[in-house]
Amino acid sequence: LIASTTLTSFASAALAADVPSPNQYYWPKGMNLAKLRAHDSESDPYGSDYYTSYHKKFEQLNLQEVRKDIEKVMLTSQPWWPADYGNYGPFFIRMAWHNAGTYRAIDGRGGEEGAQQRFAQLNDWPDNASLDKAKRLLWPVKKKYGEKLSWGDLIVLTGDVALNQMGFKTLGFVGGRPDDWQSELIYWGPGTTFFPNKSSFQVGQNGTLKHPLAATHMGLIYVNPEGPNGDPDPVKSAAMIRLAFGRMAMNDEETVALIAGGHTFGKAHGAHPNSCLSGPPVANGVEHQGLGWADHCIKGKQTADDASTSGLEGSWSADPIHFTTQYIDNLLNNDWVLGTSPTGAHQWHTKTDDKIAPDPANPNDPSKMRPIMMFTTDIALKTDPAYHKILARWAEHPNEFADAFARAWFKLVVRDMGPKSRYFGSEVPKETFVWQDPVNMPAKPINQADVRELRKLIAATGLSDRELIKTAWAAASSHRVTDHRGGANGGRLALMPQNGWAVNDPEELKTILPKLEQVRDKFNAHSARKVALADIIVLGGSVGIEDAARKAGVKIQVPFAPGRGDATQDQTDVNAFNLLEPTADAFRNYYRADADNTPPLNALVDKADTLGLTIPEMTVLLGGLRTLDINTGHSANGVLTKNPGVLSTDFFTNVLTMDTRWQKVAGQEDLYEGFDRATGQKLWTATDVDLVFGANPELRAVAEVYASDDSKAKFYNDFVKAWTKVMNLDRFDLQR
Ligand code: HEM
Repeated sequence: LIASTTLTSFASAALAADVPSPNQYYWPKGMNLAKLRAHDSESDPYGSDYYTSYHKKFEQLNLQEVRKDIEKVMLTSQPWWPADYGNYGPFFIRMAWHNAGTYRAIDGRGGEEGAQQRFAQLNDWPDNASLDKAKRLLWPVKKKYGEKLSWGDLIVLTGDVALNQMGFKTLGFVGGRPDDWQSELIYWGPGTTFFPNKSSFQVGQNGTLKHPLAATHMGLIYVNPEGPNGDPDPVKSAAMIRLAFGRMAMNDEETVALIAGGHTFGKAHGAHPNSCLSGPPVANGVEHQGLGWADHCIKGKQTADDASTSGLEGSWSADPIHFTTQYIDNLLNNDWVLGTSPTGAHQWHTKTDDKIAPDPANPNDPSKMRPIMMFTTDIALKTDPAYHKILARWAEHPNEFADAFARAWFKLVVRDMGPKSRYFGSEVPKETFVWQDPVNMPAKPINQADVRELRKLIAATGLSDRELIKTAWAAASSHRVTDHRGGANGGRLALMPQNGWAVNDPEELKTILPKLEQVRDKFNAHSARKVALADIIVLGGSVGIEDAARKAGVKIQVPFAPGRGDATQDQTDVNAFNLLEPTADAFRNYYRADADNTPPLNALVDKADTLGLTIPEMTVLLGGLRTLDINTGHSANGVLTKNPGVLSTDFFTNVLTMDTRWQKVAGQEDLYEGFDRATGQKLWTATDVDLVFGANPELRAVAEVYASDDSKAKFYNDFVKAWTKVMNLDRFDLQR
């Protein structure tokens, strides 16, 4: 009765809206494969190769011309959203920062690429209030350049133009971010309420934030300016800043540089209370044309003094449209007292409240000057000993501050683009940073004749197919399309920390890698062209799979594209790489029951998502790999074949047959045994991520394709294609 009551109330809400409801609406805990459907390019209006070819269009741009157009927009105040001080620069910086600040180092999601800030839910988050207007201001520029300039690049370039126009020299501008065309399904937090609702706070009692989240509140990009859950305590606030910015891959110095650099500019807006504002864009009628936060309290002609956004009010500096050290000087040299903004939000003012800052609507009128202010989060930088030390040094050495801000800003806006080979345009800085995960490419790469020789050398190592295949998978599957980090390129499987990850069976790896390194050394000793270990690892996978198919009587060729390089240990930031360690890899039937780990079936979808796989690709790969017997720890779970090591469709036929009865193993969370229905003989063991291919109707539908008698050729074909896709995920040169 309880269940049906719940269902009825859900259902009536769905029917009232008169739209089809996803199954998750009725069964919120059901498996959701929607993320993987986004890897098909059908919704992309520029066509299927837009994602990999966008940069070619971008490179046709004259960036100087685009910069001029943006600057003109920036300095032309519009009556429908008048510019503070006649300059939208600070507003634009906030837009670029908020588009970047969603980046999460733990899973690589969020960030500038894709320009998700255009779509619900990010566009509608309370923290992004008013930024809908910033993007509308830029529409004429976007319209002019169309396909050549993605929103992602435009937003970052606009931030750069704004910083330059206000007197700050950045390291340069990098383009090459193709846009998304739909709202990405990202887990932003457990709650259903947004900031400022108190239950939107996601940090636990002991200061922990569940992986992979980075924002402390649902609906905020990072932290609450008023202090944790509205508590104006700078000490507690510093802890939140360190947590949230740390999850964004920023250390203390980068964090202080970003906040001090950002709040050098502009102001907070709290002219009217929240009750004056309509809902976010998604909640408004079509007559609002996708804009939100309409202010009913503005009477007569709107001026810059009318703007309401965060409910906090005032500037940090007396010269908010120029790059100065005033933020640091003002913060350190004044005694700050807790008070409230006109709308009642916690903010801090100086004891003397000197009116030294210009009025946004009348910047040249001395009679309208205003006092400066700070947020609790700004005061936190002064209160926290480590942050304070950094600020005090920069107060003495402003050039060091400018340098640190330039570096931190650059990292902020390109962090989610992956390696330098994905950077485009005439303004890419020369300098290389370790966070770009650099790779050394051989001066003279190998050719196809060399590949033939290398295949023979690999076959002669005596390594088994299983060893070769699992090593190639371990290397390549570390890639994540979310921020383009990891992958086989760089040969980092042989370096710390990757060579010690439990999922990679480090003890076994220690016996495999030296043999592949010997192949490299042997070849390089006699050849003018040099091969990287990374190439040998991937080629080994091809050799192993071809042999495993041959054992099934099938002749296949696994395409191999040479052209990888190796990295050194010095070029590898161990902490940053540790974030790539899989806590689950269903393709190797590996699952670690960490407190923060998502349930196995969600982890399967998540892993497939970070590999950019579609549902058929995920299915054919997992089923094929099971027969290749490459599970972590050489576990037999899900190896539903009498011939392990032979590439076949056995996994699919055996998971779908009615001849097997499955039963949960008592006392085990995620383990099942399969018995022959006729004889009662125990046949197999399997986990959730195996049996789901028979249990979930959508996955079963795909598994049926590969189990069908007429699908053998299709299976081998699709398996090789999906395998090759994973091997080449980080081969941006091939995708172009
Ligand atoms: C404005 C919060 C870090 C750049 C604001 C506003 C809030 C805020 C509440 C006022 C929005 C409004 O009412 O219009 C915070 C917090 C931070 C932080 C809590 C971290 C602890 C940063 C960073 C940057 C930045 C890292 C850039 C590097 C700006 C700029 C403005 C601004 C330029 C002025 C926007 C304008 O004039 O329209 N910030 N911010 N902020 N923030 Fe931040």
